[in-house]
Amino acid sequence: MDFPNYVQHRQVRRWVEEMVALCKPDAVYWCDGSQEEYDAMCERLVEKGTFLRLNPELRPNSFLCRSDPTDVARMEDRTFICSLSRNQTGPTNNWVDPREMHRTLDEVFDGCMRGRTMYVVPFSMGPLGSHISYCGIELTDSEYVVVNMKLMTRMGKAVFDVLGEDGQYVPCIHSVGMPLDPGQQDVTWPCNKAQKYIVHFPEERSIWSYGSGYGGNALLGKKCFALRIASNIAHDEGWLAEHMAIVGVEDPQGEKTYIAAAFPSACGKTNFAMLVPPAVFEGWKVTTVGDDIAWIKPGRDGKVYAINPEAGFFGVAPGTNVKTNPNAMATISHNTIFTNVGLTPEGDVWWEGMTSTPPPELIDWQGQHWTPDSGRKAAHPNARFTVAASQCPTIDPEWENPNGVPIRAFIFGGRRSTVAPLVFQAFNWVYGVYYAATMGSEMTAAAAGKIGEVRRDPFAMLPFAGYHMASYFNHWLQFGRYIPEPPRIFLVNWFRKDSDGNFLWPGFGENMRVLQWIVGRARTRAAGRETALGRVPVYGDLEWAGLDGFTQEDFDTVMSIDREEWKNEILSHEELFIKLYDRLPKEFLSVRQLLLSSLWSEPEWLDRQE
Ligand code: GTP
Ligand code: SPV
Ligand code: MN
Repeated sequence: MDFPNYVQHRQVRRWVEEMVALCKPDAVYWCDGSQEEYDAMCERLVEKGTFLRLNPELRPNSFLCRSDPTDVARMEDRTFICSLSRNQTGPTNNWVDPREMHRTLDEVFDGCMRGRTMYVVPFSMGPLGSHISYCGIELTDSEYVVVNMKLMTRMGKAVFDVLGEDGQYVPCIHSVGMPLDPGQQDVTWPCNKAQKYIVHFPEERSIWSYGSGYGGNALLGKKCFALRIASNIAHDEGWLAEHMAIVGVEDPQGEKTYIAAAFPSACGKTNFAMLVPPAVFEGWKVTTVGDDIAWIKPGRDGKVYAINPEAGFFGVAPGTNVKTNPNAMATISHNTIFTNVGLTPEGDVWWEGMTSTPPPELIDWQGQHWTPDSGRKAAHPNARFTVAASQCPTIDPEWENPNGVPIRAFIFGGRRSTVAPLVFQAFNWVYGVYYAATMGSEMTAAAAGKIGEVRRDPFAMLPFAGYHMASYFNHWLQFGRYIPEPPRIFLVNWFRKDSDGNFLWPGFGENMRVLQWIVGRARTRAAGRETALGRVPVYGDLEWAGLDGFTQEDFDTVMSIDREEWKNEILSHEELFIKLYDRLPKEFLSVRQLLLSSLWSEPEWLDRQE
């Protein structure tokens, strides 16, 4: 086999040779990561019919792509963590014995790239060569993956300079699982409808993905590497790999506070990362470090530092507009790949919620003619844009600082129409870990499953923790013990609804009102009003100017903590705890008792006064 002369890594050469022998591609192409290569690859995708070039006047250098309707989101039931022992993987992940899984994969990958090219995609998660970064190499037969990896990671041949002859990297192999017979016509979105495998070998630190070309199933630097494999590395090395956005908040005096926020998939991380404060917050600035993943390490100075290992955004399109997220709209004004959105007659994109009046007609995400009364969605609910983070107008000046940014607070928040109040602060680190661990959220279209159903999504990491979930809880508890003054932990819920199904809280930019309170408390550590769950703001603690029509009564409703509902909520934690019984932190049982105790003490004398 021929290797580019800059590839001197012996083990990489051997591995690529082995994978070529297994997958049997017609050709091998080593990606250099250049702009010319990206442009040529997009052009190739246009020729194949996979990409459609959007109107260059309206959306310069941007493309529309429509996936197969069966390949539109992450497949959690086809995602496997194959640790040597089942108990290491834990009950919240799918496990298969790694030897058995290797046998299966050797079978399905055998000849899977026939009629296609294998692309070798070297990439770095985190700035190239930084002490905090890790390299990976993805072998893939999908040009769509190559161009997305170019936007989402630091991709290119410079990775081999970092690797030298024997540097560490995570081998990632990906195939759409649709070999072509000689003369067989390709389809615009190849995938394997019958078989999908997204497989992680934590001890080997390797990833195998077969059958899907979409998002986290196929862009292996993202969830597979930066969360599932990285959470294993982080556990061994004493840091955290989290499903979190990272934002900077600068006050009018120029003091900067960085905060990391974990919300489940399609629950507002991108919106939060690019938040535009309402006009009354003159002099306040919110800046973006990352919108999906944070690697968080303790510094020598006793503080906690976070980097965004990614270089781009793979963001949810539906619901994004100039009001909800003007920064995202500006970011995706050019050089963007859109997947599964609608196409307007002018050659631009459209999705539900982009404008208040839909276009009179368009071509929907499945390529069908669409009108507003066709009763179908123009865009798939998990339609996404891929774009370089550097294009974001609010990108933080420190976003590529290899030492990361200092984190002062963690925010956790699920999508709950009921029960969970707008905001509260956990009494301390242990309470915070308990709340994060028991976070509930209604399922979204980001993963195949029952949309709307409440499930426990610990730390927004249920689909992404690469080892036993209860060991992960213990790791968080242990992390806090190492830090002299650990970041404060806050819980939020932007999604509470009234009995008619309307959101009780305006959300989006207005979340600044809550964020300001959080920043103040993270800095000063002042005491707030105490409730059974934690500390909360009273009405007067938040800035209300410019939010007309939101009364103190509305605030009380969105903040309310119903004791009966919360007793049931705490009962429902039991289900998760029983699942994780053998490794559950002992602290959790105490916190649970303390919570029940404070929820129970309904002051009877208050009732009598009424
Ligand atoms: P992943 O990329 O899947 O990890 O998700 P994400 O957390 O980055 O999700 P994103 O920010 O793209 O969330 C998109 C969805 O959340 C859309 O349906 C938005 O309308 C909704 N959303 C975001 N912020 C708010 C908010 O403050 N209030 C309400 N009601 N909805 C919000
Ligand atoms: C998520 O589902 O949390 C995402 C999208 O960020 S994907 O990369 O497809 O996992
Ligand atoms: Mn995500």
